[in-house]
Amino acid sequence: MLLCSLLSTLAWGPSSVFLILLLLLGLTVRIWQRSHPWDIQQCFTDLTGKTAVVTGANSGIGKAVCQELARRGARVILACRNREHGQRALAEIQAASNSNQLLLGEVDLSSLVSIQSFAQWLLQKEPEIHLLINNAGICGIPHNTLTPEGLDVTFATNYVGPFLLTNLLRGALQKAGSARVVNVSSSQQVHGYIDGEHLTGAGGPLTFNQNYCCSKLMLISFTAELARRLQRTGVTVNSVHPGIVYTNIMRNLPWKYRFLFLLFSFFIKDPKQGAMPVLYLSLAQELDGISGKYFNSSCVITLPTKPAQDPQVSKSLWNATAQLTNLDKTD
Ligand SMILES: NC(=O)c1ccc[n+]([C@@H]2O[C@H](COP(=O)([O-])OP(=O)(O)OC[C@H]3O[C@@H](n4cnc5c(N)ncnc54)[C@H](OP(=O)(O)O)[C@@H]3O)[C@@H](O)[C@H]2O)c1
Repeated sequence: MLLCSLLSTLAWGPSSVFLILLLLLGLTVRIWQRSHPWDIQQCFTDLTGKTAVVTGANSGIGKAVCQELARRGARVILACRNREHGQRALAEIQAASNSNQLLLGEVDLSSLVSIQSFAQWLLQKEPEIHLLINNAGICGIPHNTLTPEGLDVTFATNYVGPFLLTNLLRGALQKAGSARVVNVSSSQQVHGYIDGEHLTGAGGPLTFNQNYCCSKLMLISFTAELARRLQRTGVTVNSVHPGIVYTNIMRNLPWKYRFLFLLFSFFIKDPKQGAMPVLYLSLAQELDGISGKYFNSSCVITLPTKPAQDPQVSKSLWNATAQLTNLDKTD
């Protein structure tokens, strides 16, 4: 009734037609964004007795993922950089999932030292790991913002951190017999290119926020190379774009972008919906044995940008990162 009276009072001109078309377009995008080809209700994977590690577990997609894993009986390690935020998330997940199998671990993924001590702590507690989800990420930090260890903070958090953590946990993943690694990347990888010098704040020119795109492309490249190295070990690794999801991810971007994000929040996914592609890679049985692939937010295997398809590029990026993280000395 209200809509009818509103429509009858509208002055029918080009601007009102444009407005309605815009609204219809928005609604279509909302339905498309939120529809999901994979039905989680039809996935009966039980995680009782399994250990899952999720980075960036205190907010957004990571928190929603943890809740579902806990609901399925997994022992979930919430790897967070802020103890207070982590504890708050743990209490919420506990209440929502009724799980007493949650454990909080502290790690700053932009710090090699922090990752090393977290991995040491974790391996003492959990000799076998069945699922590692490299979810933590940041964007909107200007390139060449360096960590105390001399790494660019965006590349360190989004790529070098997951690289080192995964490698340090490799033994525990292999010990589990069958395990999965899920790297949360982004469709923004299409705007990226690979230059190892970027890791230390140098390298080729980068436009605004392109460091985010490049770091997510590196994560896909790492996925492909790791998959080659993990052949016949029972451990698979894939990467995924979760879709456009209303979370805290934009918090470091200028207010104009955050305002637009807020404005469009109605049309995009919420964290629970954004968690679906990540959960698909973590749980779906049809993915047994599938490794080294990049999935889009509709859970379809997609080719990433050219550099991440080139094994030579992936190999030399791996070697440069191994050297930077001193992994070649511990591997
Ligand atoms: N939202 C989207 O539209 C979208 C699209 C494509 C890809 N993604 C990817 O999805 C992943 C999850 O992001 P989100 O959207 O859920 O955003 P979010 O709510 O901001 O979550 C990011 C998480 O990463 C953690 N984190 C950031 N820097 C860290 C560090 N140095 N050490 C440890 N943890 C750190 C954050 O911890 P604090 O709370 O302590 O900062 C937070 O828990 C990210 O990798 C992001 O790039 C998101």
